[in-house]
Amino acid sequence: MFKVTVVGSGNWGSVAAKLIASNTIRLASFHDEVRMWVFEEKLPSGEKLTDVINKTNENVKYLPGIKLGKNVVADPELENAVKDANMLVFVTPHQFMEGICKRLAGKIRSDTEGISLIKGMEVKKEGPTMISTLITKQLGINCSVLMGANIANEIALEKFSEATVGYNQNKLAAERWVELFNTPYFNVTAVEDVEGVELCGTLKNVVAIAAGFVDGLEMGNNTKAAIMRIGLKEMRAFSKMWFPSVKDNTFFESCGVADLITTCMGGRNRKVADAYARNGGKRPFDELEAEMLQGQKLQGVLTAQEVHEVLSHRGWLHMFPLFSAVHAISTGRLPPSAIVKISDLKPSSN
Ligand code: NAD
Ligand code: 13P
Repeated sequence: MFKVTVVGSGNWGSVAAKLIASNTIRLASFHDEVRMWVFEEKLPSGEKLTDVINKTNENVKYLPGIKLGKNVVADPELENAVKDANMLVFVTPHQFMEGICKRLAGKIRSDTEGISLIKGMEVKKEGPTMISTLITKQLGINCSVLMGANIANEIALEKFSEATVGYNQNKLAAERWVELFNTPYFNVTAVEDVEGVELCGTLKNVVAIAAGFVDGLEMGNNTKAAIMRIGLKEMRAFSKMWFPSVKDNTFFESCGVADLITTCMGGRNRKVADAYARNGGKRPFDELEAEMLQGQKLQGVLTAQEVHEVLSHRGWLHMFPLFSAVHAISTGRLPPSAIVKISDLKPSSN
């Protein structure tokens, strides 16, 4: 029997728990109960978020108005939440994963399989380390990924969408993940290309920031399409430079072009970047994020910083004018209008 814990309970984490719980209750090979680790916080009412989730079956802060399923149990104790599980679903903002892995090292079952729904990467001396690799290295477990055109609030309402599982070698594990996530409104396909799938999900957030600048400056649809096209090319070039095994076809899966489109149309990165441009770059991203997202986290600005770091270390910035422009604009070194002057950009080394 497989026992699932979801590590994370933000907007997408809560929807993932809902999707999974609808399947564990119906499929005999899974325990019904799905544990969901909650980074505990006090609500304005003074109650703990975990208590409210368990009382109302709703994540009132990150996914209000949606029932998660009675078999979802919120747990604020990380080690307790994972201790019986042999399928771990990681879905937190990427900046918290290193700390979470440190806390979990040596505390999980040896027969555990992992999957990461996290869009982001870590920067190491040798270059980018994908979050699935971080999990594998620190926890000693195989880790697949699931990415796609998946704006969480739409999937919460059971509107049809697709997703891609990326796996390396362990096809059986990938098939089990597909079984766990697939529903009539959530169509999951598996491809053997962990890095390709994960890099698509990670890098499209940088392009979405650029798309938000274009929207904020009211430049129109053609400009936005141009930004998305250039962004897609840079996503592929970056992915293949660091991970030559990445497959071209992966960019045509849900995790690739479809996620790029949906995030540039309706994502949080786009929305906050739009506001940044409308304010002429005068209000910093973290201030806008706190005000507009109320606890939810952007990944694109941090990813642009990480991309910049690894590219400048290798002297490759000039090959990625769009990624470089997003970093320069989001850190206030260039005005938002520089997003359409990318061929003039002189990348700096900082
Ligand atoms: P979120 O941005 O909605 O919420 C932030 C979460 O971080 C909350 O659960 C909060 O409790 C938690 N948190 C805050 N401080 C923390 C800390 N110090 N340590 C650990 N956790 C802390 O989260 P999300 O939308 O579930 O995003 C998780 C990942 O899923 C991200 O990589 C995101 O890119 C990806 N994703 C999101 C969506 C979406 O539509 N929301 C869709 C696909 C993928
Ligand atoms: P945002 O974080 O920009 O909302 O993107 C969500 C996403 O990854 C959709 O697939």
